Amino acid sequence: MPKMKPSLRLTKSPSISTKATSAQPHSATLVARPRVSAKESSVASGIVSRSYVVRTFGCQMNEHDSERIAGLLDAEGLEAVSEESDADVIVLNTCCIRENADNKLYGTLGHLKTWKDSREGRQIVVAGCLSQKDKDVVQSRAKWVDVVLGTHNVHRTAELLEHARTVGPVTEIYDEAVQDDHVLFPSALPARRETTYNAWVTIQIGCDNTCAYCIVPSVRGKEISRSSDDIVDEVRRLASLGVTEVTLLGQNVNSYGRDLTLAERQAGGDVRVRPLFADLLRSVGSVPGIRRVRYTSPHPKDMKSDVIAAMAETPTVCEHLHYPLQAGSDRVLALMHRGYTAQKYLDRLAEARRAMPDIAITTDIIVGFPGETEEDFVRTLEVSAEADFDSTYTFIFSPRDGTEAATMTEHFVEPSVIADRFDRLRVVVERSALLRHEARVGRTEEIVVEGPNRKREGHFTGRTRQNKLVHFASHEPLRPGTYGTVEITRGAPHFLEGIFREVLAEPSHRVRIPVAVAGH
Ligand code: 5AD
Ligand code: SF4
Repeated sequence: MPKMKPSLRLTKSPSISTKATSAQPHSATLVARPRVSAKESSVASGIVSRSYVVRTFGCQMNEHDSERIAGLLDAEGLEAVSEESDADVIVLNTCCIRENADNKLYGTLGHLKTWKDSREGRQIVVAGCLSQKDKDVVQSRAKWVDVVLGTHNVHRTAELLEHARTVGPVTEIYDEAVQDDHVLFPSALPARRETTYNAWVTIQIGCDNTCAYCIVPSVRGKEISRSSDDIVDEVRRLASLGVTEVTLLGQNVNSYGRDLTLAERQAGGDVRVRPLFADLLRSVGSVPGIRRVRYTSPHPKDMKSDVIAAMAETPTVCEHLHYPLQAGSDRVLALMHRGYTAQKYLDRLAEARRAMPDIAITTDIIVGFPGETEEDFVRTLEVSAEADFDSTYTFIFSPRDGTEAATMTEHFVEPSVIADRFDRLRVVVERSALLRHEARVGRTEEIVVEGPNRKREGHFTGRTRQNKLVHFASHEPLRPGTYGTVEITRGAPHFLEGIFREVLAEPSHRVRIPVAVAGH
C-alpha cells in the first residue's frame, strides 16, 4: 500500500527554496523561485474575477483529471472560458504516452510566453504525465511556467497557483499517490464536467503491469482500487443530477478490487482474494436512472468469464468491448510482456460474442515494436482479420525513456517499414469496420444525442450502445442527452448515417459546462 505522504505544506514565505528529491526519495520535489513583482501580484490578487482555460492532451484519465482541475479552480472563484485570449490562467494537462509529446509541450510553452507577457498576472500551469516524468525540467526549459504539478497532486492545483502568485514559480511532484480517498481518485472531488448526461468515474488508479513499451506505471504509480461503495455512491449522485451514462475508468479494470480483497484478508477477514470488477459492473449497472455503463480499459490477460457474464446479464452495460490486442505475434506479445497469446485473445473474444452477439469490438495495436519482423506483422494482420474489429486505434511504436523497449535500440524498425505496415493494417481494419457497419443498414438503433452537426443544418450526431458515431437527420430540434431511435441508412468505415425516428427519453440534466479538450 502506498504510504501516507510526508506532510508538505507550502507556506507563503518567500524563503522557500527546497529541493526535496535527493533527501527524501519518496517525497515531493518542491522548487520555489523568487517572488513575483508587487504590481503583478496586486493585479492578480482577485480584484477582478480571474478566468481560466484547461487544455487536455491524452487519454480519458487525463480528461477526467482536467475536469477536477476545473472544479478546483471554480471553487476558488475563477471563471471558465473557452478561449486562451480571454484567460488569466492556462492549464496544460499533458500526456507522455506516445509521440514527441515533449517537443509539442515545449513548443506550446514557447507560444505561451508571448501570451503570458501580453497581460499582467497571467499564469501557466503544466500538469499531468509529462510533468510527472520531467519534474524540474519543465521550469528549467520554460522559466515562465508558474506551476508544475504531477499526476499525484492534482488536488493541490489551486493552492499551488496561489503559491506561485504570492511567492513565485513552483514545481511540486509527488513520487507516489497520497493515501486519502479524497485526493486519490479524481472522481472523489467536485469536477466541472464537459457534458452533463455522461460522466467518467475513476475506479482504480495506477497500473501494476510491466508492458515493455509503456510509461504509464512510472507516471501513474501502483494500482489502487477505490471502494465499491464509494463508486456506487458517486454513480447514484451523478444519476440524481441527470447523468444517464457512466464510463468506469482504470488502467487495468479487470484487476479492480484485487488489492481491496487482499487488504481485507491480510486484516484477518474471511474473504477470497479476487478481482471485484464483475460485481462492480452489476452494482453500477443497477443504479436507478443509469441507462448506459461503459468501461475502459480491460487487459486480455485478466479478462475472465465472470466479467463477460456480468456484461451480458446487466442490461445497462453497453455492447462494446475495447480490448487492446497490441500485436498479433506471440513472440512480440511475449517481448511486450503482455501475458497472453493471440489464440487466448481470440478465444475470449469468441466467448464475448457468444454471450453478446451484437457486441462491438475495438482495439489498440502498436506497429513497429522493436524486433517486429515481417512475419510477426503478418500475424497482426491475420489476427486482426479474424478478430473482425469494429475499429482500431493504431499507434506507431514510440520509445519512452525509462521503459524496457526504449533500450532495444538495435532492434528498432525502420520508419519507412513502419509506415508501410501502418497502411496495410489500416486497409484490413477499415475493411472489417465497413462490412460490420454496412450490416447495420436498415436496423433501428438506440442513440443518445451528442449535439447538432455544425456542418449540416438539420443534422445531429449521436452514439449507439456499440459506441458508434451516427450522423442523422431530424426535423425536430434535439438536446444533447436525449435518447431516441435512428434508422440506419448507410455504413462508412468510421461512422453510420441514419434518420431520426422517435424520442425515447428527454434529458434531465440542467446545465452544460465546457472544458476545452485539445485532442490526442
Ligand atoms: N508507443 C506506441 N504506442 C503506445 N501505447 C502505449 N505506449 C506506447 C508506446 N510507447 C499505446 C498502447 C496502449 C494505448 C493507450 O497507447 O496501444 O493501449
Ligand atoms: Fe501500460 Fe500495460 Fe499498464 Fe496498459 S496494462 S497501462 S499498456 S503497463
